[in-house]
Amino acid sequence: MCGIFAVSGKGNHAGNIILEGLKKLEYRGYDSWGIALRKAGKDAILIEKEVGKISKVNKELSPSVEGIGHSRWATHGGVTRENAHPHQVGKVTIVHNGIFENFSKHKKQFEAKGTSFCSQTDSEVIAAILNSFFEAGFSPEKCITKTAKKIDGRFAFLAMFEGISGIFAARRGSPLIIGRGKTETFIASDIPAFLEKTNIVNYLDDNEMVLVNGTTVNFKNLQTGLPVEKRDIKVPWKVESAEKGKFPHFMIKEIFEQKETIARAINHDENALNQAISLLKDCNGVFFVACGTAHKVAMTAEYFFAEISGRKINVVPASEMPYFERFINKKTAIIAISQSGETADVLEVLERGKKAGAKILSLTNVESSSIARLSDVHIPILAGPEKAVASTKAATSQMALLFLLAYTEVGKTNIAREILRSTSSSINDFLNERYEAIIQDVAKTIVKKENLFIIGRGDLYPMALEAAIKIQEVSYIHAQGFSAGELKHGPIALIEKDTPCLVLGDDLETLSNAVELKSRGAKIIGISPQRADVFDEWLKIPDCDGAKAIVTIIPVQILAYHLALLRNIDPDMPRNLAKSVTVK
Ligand code: M6R
Repeated sequence: MCGIFAVSGKGNHAGNIILEGLKKLEYRGYDSWGIALRKAGKDAILIEKEVGKISKVNKELSPSVEGIGHSRWATHGGVTRENAHPHQVGKVTIVHNGIFENFSKHKKQFEAKGTSFCSQTDSEVIAAILNSFFEAGFSPEKCITKTAKKIDGRFAFLAMFEGISGIFAARRGSPLIIGRGKTETFIASDIPAFLEKTNIVNYLDDNEMVLVNGTTVNFKNLQTGLPVEKRDIKVPWKVESAEKGKFPHFMIKEIFEQKETIARAINHDENALNQAISLLKDCNGVFFVACGTAHKVAMTAEYFFAEISGRKINVVPASEMPYFERFINKKTAIIAISQSGETADVLEVLERGKKAGAKILSLTNVESSSIARLSDVHIPILAGPEKAVASTKAATSQMALLFLLAYTEVGKTNIAREILRSTSSSINDFLNERYEAIIQDVAKTIVKKENLFIIGRGDLYPMALEAAIKIQEVSYIHAQGFSAGELKHGPIALIEKDTPCLVLGDDLETLSNAVELKSRGAKIIGISPQRADVFDEWLKIPDCDGAKAIVTIIPVQILAYHLALLRNIDPDMPRNLAKSVTVK
């Protein structure tokens, strides 16, 4: 949530570098943007900020050596220019990603002493605290150390101090990565912001700060102020992997990437898989925790494990986990599933689980993420950067990897690899422009509808829930998923003439539920390997046996994408959302 980006260097182009970098971080928040720039070490800091998407901005910014920028997903305070970052109080200018939970207590103390604030944000209060220490004569490092002690909650912030060159950054809970260029240094919430300039990075860990002045970079512990040594890491990502290329949107690019990503997801050696599975041995409770789409993936994996290895797994949305905390102890394994690896609700479960002695396994798409770093064992899903808000390729990669793990638990990894390789090659065959055009035509027939229902059973039940998320978030159509058998226990009352219903699967029970829907007037769109009489429209998918959940969701992703386009919605940046949800 919120993208932050800084550059400090020798040239005079900091403004334009930040503008371009922020555009690459826009998926993290797109309510407003802002940039603070400085011409030289002792110069005053100039701020530009506006409401709206930074991708729409095309302007030359004034020459400057360094600066900080922000693309906002609003938490405290509405979407206004005043609430847009950067925030400047006295001699300190900051951008912030996170939540300062106890900010109002501090704000009131400042107000009582006569300080007035320009915004409703928690972030401006961080600037005020930093400034109060700076005015009292403390060094920037000391100001940051002292300020961090006052903040409850997760944060990553970048700060500039008037009269002192360099950018200061600190983190606890929200990501920050340092990019080591030849003539300048970058600090960003995510690597794509600077990937064009460098792929050599240092990861800032929790409770650390960094001072960047040109190519001089000093890491320090946030509590003690003592120096911290960092290793330079080469990131294997290609620049193109974080760009749209020939596709009009990231969402459709990422959907098509599923031609390769499944095969990549299962490209782990036996040792890594066994290490993950060994964590589950001797555990008397295993919990999958995840949010949103990753949670629906976890639900699917619950079916995989039940059927393949006979293990019962508890699946809990991360935000509901506090109610089950009494079951977490040294004999528990928590398996976290997350594309970004930064989802706050998941992180909190892991932090608390770790304190209780639980073992942590995680599957994320970002190897350097907070969740990955907190885990005892981490397996990357290797999907490559996913930038569209709607999770597509990450979800199918997670499913493939979990399918593989379920087989690994019973010593049959090779069987799973075989099934998934053939699934991957079937996806490669059917996922093409012709197939997309067929789905586009189906989208046209339902684009005006305000309600849509989806049914599935077994491991296609969670896919019905996932299908609903996809359609809701990018097309704003009210879509709801149900287990096929539950429909007649209430939801069927919602069916009217021509209500579109997606039916996932062609097994006899599901088809008989589809007939029940059709008898009440529903328009049935089947997604399955075989056509059935009850279908008004049919989206054929290959028969992938045990891995059917993976292929079934792909046409729905394409349908959601085309519904968004037909309704004039930007599928990459739908309203009210952000790619990684780093607030609780
Ligand atoms: O990064 P994560 O996988 O932890 O994110 C979890 C959810 O926020 C995410 O899946 C969300 O539901 C997506 N926008 C769905 O497409």
